[in-house]
Amino acid sequence: MSAPLPNRDRLATRLIHAGQSPDPLTGAVITPVYTSTTFVQDGIGRNRGYDYTRSGNPTRLVLEACLADLENAGAAFAFPSGLSAAATALELLPAGSRILAHTDVYGGIHRLLADVRTHTAGHQVRFVDFSDSAALEQAAESGADMLWFETPSNPLLRIVDLAAVAHIAKRIGAISVCDSTFASPCGQLPLDFGIDVVMHSATKFLAGHSDLLGGVLAVSAEAPEALTARVRYLQNALGAVMCPIDCALLLRSLKTLSVRVDRQAANAAILAQHLAANAQALGLSEVIYPGLASHPGHAVAARQMENFGALISLKLTGGLERVERVLSSTRLFQFAVSLGGVESLIQHPASLTHAVIPQDQRAITGIGDDLIRLSVGIEDAGDLLADLLNALT
Ligand SMILES: Cc1ncc(COP(=O)(O)O)c(C=O)c1O
Repeated sequence: MSAPLPNRDRLATRLIHAGQSPDPLTGAVITPVYTSTTFVQDGIGRNRGYDYTRSGNPTRLVLEACLADLENAGAAFAFPSGLSAAATALELLPAGSRILAHTDVYGGIHRLLADVRTHTAGHQVRFVDFSDSAALEQAAESGADMLWFETPSNPLLRIVDLAAVAHIAKRIGAISVCDSTFASPCGQLPLDFGIDVVMHSATKFLAGHSDLLGGVLAVSAEAPEALTARVRYLQNALGAVMCPIDCALLLRSLKTLSVRVDRQAANAAILAQHLAANAQALGLSEVIYPGLASHPGHAVAARQMENFGALISLKLTGGLERVERVLSSTRLFQFAVSLGGVESLIQHPASLTHAVIPQDQRAITGIGDDLIRLSVGIEDAGDLLADLLNALT
């Protein structure tokens, strides 16, 4: 990872202060929530920086400045959900564009790429395993307008080499978009490796409490100014803006991001190591966690990530019946979709988050009925381990 910029506060400090200063009117330490949808105009072509909240809102601008700072981006934009951020990023492409996408992506992103935009925009979408740099190189030979990937990916936690993708994208003139939801800015900073655009489902780690839907696009300061201007234009033109109350909630959540992620990643490492060391006795055919030396992407993850994240995927022996028993017998790990919150969750990708992907394609990628995904929260690690061991045995 590139060295911090000189005289720049570290991330834990920026999470509290970036883009924020006491309210000049009242001295309020916390950013006020401006719910007004419209702003008085001082005359034709004269206002105080705002006219209509879709085009610009003071609370949202503070959040966006904070997010841009955290991602080392030129600019960032806040959307009402991760999928609306993704949909807006896809609008950067003219109809009939060629998209090369990672095989392992969230089911909703797969649906947006392979179904919705294929039909409405005529995009040609090809899926390739981005964690296999040679396969990616080869697929990119025939050209692409956008490279779309997640790292770590959902749900198989594959690690994609950020610098390698950035290099290929530049060579073929494609826009590179990294969905960095599973890492958060506390886990990795894709723009530092030459990626053009970072996307987040802010619903996950950024919000962190399973009570807020949101999305983010952060555009590299190195990208042409036209790209940033186009995202800004599209956010307003498509109307996909985060509401001011959610912006304030997200600003509040960000303040504890590094504390939460540090604890979640530390808990996940403890669980993954114990599960991997006792895999056979626990009826696990595979324990997938990028922090394990056995993970094929471990070396790349160690190079480009600050921690190995808080997601663990497990393959269980004993068929669907056992999978169902385990899912319904945990007490602290609640059986629910989503991830990144302070509470631990357990879910079944094949029937939930990835059910929308046709079964034959799921099988090729490796998302079988035997796979479960854990999102590790900030509870006591010993309690979480006991809960899992109880359910698995
Ligand atoms: C990796 C990833 N990207 C995008 C999304 C979509 O985000 P949202 O649910 O906020 O629309 C999700 C949701 O689970 C996700 O896991």
